[in-house]
Amino acid sequence: MSDAKIWAKKSTFIFAAAGSAIGLGNLWKFPYMVGENGGGAFVIVYLLCVLLIGLPLMMSETIVGKHAHGNAIDAIGETAERSGASQNWKGIAALGMVTALLLLSFYSVIAGWAFDYTWAFAKGDLAGKDTAAVKLYFDALQADPQRLILWHSVFMFATAAIIARGAKDGIEKSLGLMMPLLFIILFVMVGYSAFVTGKFGETLTYMFTIDFAKITPMVVINALGQAFFSLSIGMCAIMTYAAYMRDDISISRSAVYISGLDTLMALLAGLAIFPIVFANGLNAGSGPGLLFVTLSTAFAQIGMLGTILGALFFFLVIIAALSSSISLVEPLVKWLEERFGVNRVFATFGYCFIVWALGLLTVFSFNIWAKADVLGTGKNPFDLISFAASSVLLPLGGLLLAIYAGWGLDKKISREQLSTLNGTLFSVWLFIMRFVAPVLISIVFIASLLGKVS
Ligand code: TRP
Repeated sequence: MSDAKIWAKKSTFIFAAAGSAIGLGNLWKFPYMVGENGGGAFVIVYLLCVLLIGLPLMMSETIVGKHAHGNAIDAIGETAERSGASQNWKGIAALGMVTALLLLSFYSVIAGWAFDYTWAFAKGDLAGKDTAAVKLYFDALQADPQRLILWHSVFMFATAAIIARGAKDGIEKSLGLMMPLLFIILFVMVGYSAFVTGKFGETLTYMFTIDFAKITPMVVINALGQAFFSLSIGMCAIMTYAAYMRDDISISRSAVYISGLDTLMALLAGLAIFPIVFANGLNAGSGPGLLFVTLSTAFAQIGMLGTILGALFFFLVIIAALSSSISLVEPLVKWLEERFGVNRVFATFGYCFIVWALGLLTVFSFNIWAKADVLGTGKNPFDLISFAASSVLLPLGGLLLAIYAGWGLDKKISREQLSTLNGTLFSVWLFIMRFVAPVLISIVFIASLLGKVS
């Protein structure tokens, strides 16, 4: 293994994987899902999902990537060969790349909204507006394909620019800048919420009081889906990053740090957002509009300080999204580079162009195709792509990965890679991969496909 292919710093894998994990899922989706799914009830189920399934699965992805030190498809191929298992397992990584393509196509459009808001706050366009006016602003943004395309293009270009520079100069260096910034800005926001709004106590009660009656099957489905999405597992992104990992780093410890950081950021996002929402008498359960309408109204109402906080907050969203989007591009680019010797810059821009073009389906789903019904599914293109990626392909990828790690992969490989775990913990990990994860994911997956639970 040549040094050029391994990250220079020991901590980079943790930062890169945490950067991948921490994104719109934490800052945008988690808080509104808490609001929609009954506060503390959702939080506790979410934490259990992370601990019981997310963390062990993240270890599995890491084992394969670190063992093979190559792109995800060949990493699975190589470990399968050594395990005497079928080469068909490589399909998991191929599936992951399809999922990544679909996911990034809409992820980029939503990240584009954050660009628009950062700009709007910085210019003072939103200052003083009430909920109705901010809602109008948000609606006008969605109704304007040109603006959406502009920001979607900026975001995809930024992603491509980082990836084109390579794992060390692009990913490692940019993360060294982005990750500290991410934490600093979020801490400033939480500090403001804790000391200025006077609603911190109320938020703590809201997020951490568990009302068991509110734990419905739907809450469990949503929490597991969110855990997968937020931890970036199920599509071989973490596996791809693990290929750049130094051999002397502990997989289990890294996975604990990564899922810990990701969970911490989701909780902090809640602690930063809800006090501001409550202090302005707004509704925490307002769904996907929580950031772009509710929280933004709150910022708009607090004068000059709101302008600064608003611009800062949406800038934070951009950085978090960017450190995630790069990990959605890297798997395919690495494969094209290693397998077919394709030039990295060419592969990156070519692929990002395809993602960009696919993203137009999402762009138009907010305006001219909002009422479109694709193939009689009752969904417009964005709803369909997002459903296919997050609710079907992601859990499916996770399920197959668990089965591969538990049953396909030779135990010698996993034991060797998890050498820092003691015997009992290793058995627990194996038991989860073999039985717990497949069964739980299958139940949740089938239930959500049937859409019957409520
Ligand atoms: N984890 C990211 C977020 O929370 C989104 C995401 C899901 C992702 N799967 C991924 C990012 C795979 C990178 C790779 O926003």
